[in-house]
Amino acid sequence: MAQRDGFTSTFGVLVATLGSAVGLGNIWKFPYLTGTNGGAGFLLTYLLATLLVGLPVMIAEIMLGRTARANAVSTFEILSPKQPFWKAIGYMGLVAAVLILAFYTEVAGWVFAYVVKSIAGTLGHTDPASAKATFGALVSSPVQALFWQWLVLVVTGGIIMLGVSKGIEAVAKKLMPLLFLLLIALCIRSLTLPGAAEGLRFLFAPDFSKIGTGVLLTALGLAFFKLSIGMGTMLTYGSYFRPEQNIPATATRVMIADLSVSLLAGMAIFPAVFAFGFEPAAGPSLVFMTIPAVFDSMPGGQVFMVLFFVLTAIASLGAMLSILEVPVAMMTERWSCSRRKATLITLAVIALLGAPASLSQSLTQDWKLFGLNAFDLFDYLSSNVLLPLGGILISLFVGWSYGMGKLQAGLSNNGQLDNGPLVKALFILLRYVSPLLIAIVMLKALGLF
Ligand code: PHE
Repeated sequence: MAQRDGFTSTFGVLVATLGSAVGLGNIWKFPYLTGTNGGAGFLLTYLLATLLVGLPVMIAEIMLGRTARANAVSTFEILSPKQPFWKAIGYMGLVAAVLILAFYTEVAGWVFAYVVKSIAGTLGHTDPASAKATFGALVSSPVQALFWQWLVLVVTGGIIMLGVSKGIEAVAKKLMPLLFLLLIALCIRSLTLPGAAEGLRFLFAPDFSKIGTGVLLTALGLAFFKLSIGMGTMLTYGSYFRPEQNIPATATRVMIADLSVSLLAGMAIFPAVFAFGFEPAAGPSLVFMTIPAVFDSMPGGQVFMVLFFVLTAIASLGAMLSILEVPVAMMTERWSCSRRKATLITLAVIALLGAPASLSQSLTQDWKLFGLNAFDLFDYLSSNVLLPLGGILISLFVGWSYGMGKLQAGLSNNGQLDNGPLVKALFILLRYVSPLLIAIVMLKALGLF
């Protein structure tokens, strides 16, 4: 068998995994969902979901991938030959990957467009009305919406065709630290704006009256989305992990770093929201309106604004590459398709499915299913249905079929690591806590009890 491509160093693994986790989920989705769901109470729910469910599922996924050294479908075939139904997890992941990319590429397209706008200097305003008009003009123009989405598809496809270690690792390694620094600078500016305290209160002083049942599922879905779990991304990346990599330690580091980026984004955005009189519950446009305002109010703001949107575009690429890797690994390994062909086919499907999503503020705004337009529907189906369902199944697989002994073996790096008590706790979380919690939250959101 041909040698599988893989990550070439321990640092590379950490950065590439982080590159998958950190993306628009942190910079765009986390702030806007926190804003529409009432702030601190949502943040707390999300934190609990990340710790109790997110981290265990992430460790399990990476372990499964590294043990089987295969894509998300074949992994279950290899690890569980007698129970072929588990490979449905992999196929669900394939569907989730395509649905996520169909709307994610659109949001990434907005970021690309804002790179150009910030270079052109057309974003310099701090008043909510003109910020809203700028964003509105972009998303309601069918030509612009499609153009930017397709540009994103072409760039992503180009990088993935270079291969795993060269493409993903090289891009991720260089740029993540820079994004971190820039976010810190942005936070400092935002926190020193007059009226900033109100934003901090919104983010950190919980108001439990706002936590309804829909909010719980949204917080859980966000935890899955941000950690790139429940759909085989971490499993596929796990299959490129080196044998000596400490999986629980890597996953914990990724979770902490991912969380820090989200919190930094929140602390950059919410003080500014209140200082400039934006609406915290503005929805998907929130980041695109407030961030330029913060930059506009600082010396040398334009330069930093360009840098911010460039880095966000790159962070979104790291995430998109990891999502695209799920179908591409599956197609190359199962159907002996070339990497190039697998990428092109997947991108074509995403372009087709993504068009109604990117036109959902213009030509297809009346296309609705369950009261949701294509953009919202793809987002809801992936984050709030497929990823949590994938999470339940992965937990059940490890907790009830794969078993404690193999989990221990999979995490022990050939007996070199003894994380006995930790594995026991992890096993209990996977066997009971995470499937039950996810199931209760999902059923409650459906109104079943
Ligand atoms: N975690 C990525 C982000 O926050 C999105 C993602 C979801 C990536 C699912 C892979 C799988 O932007």
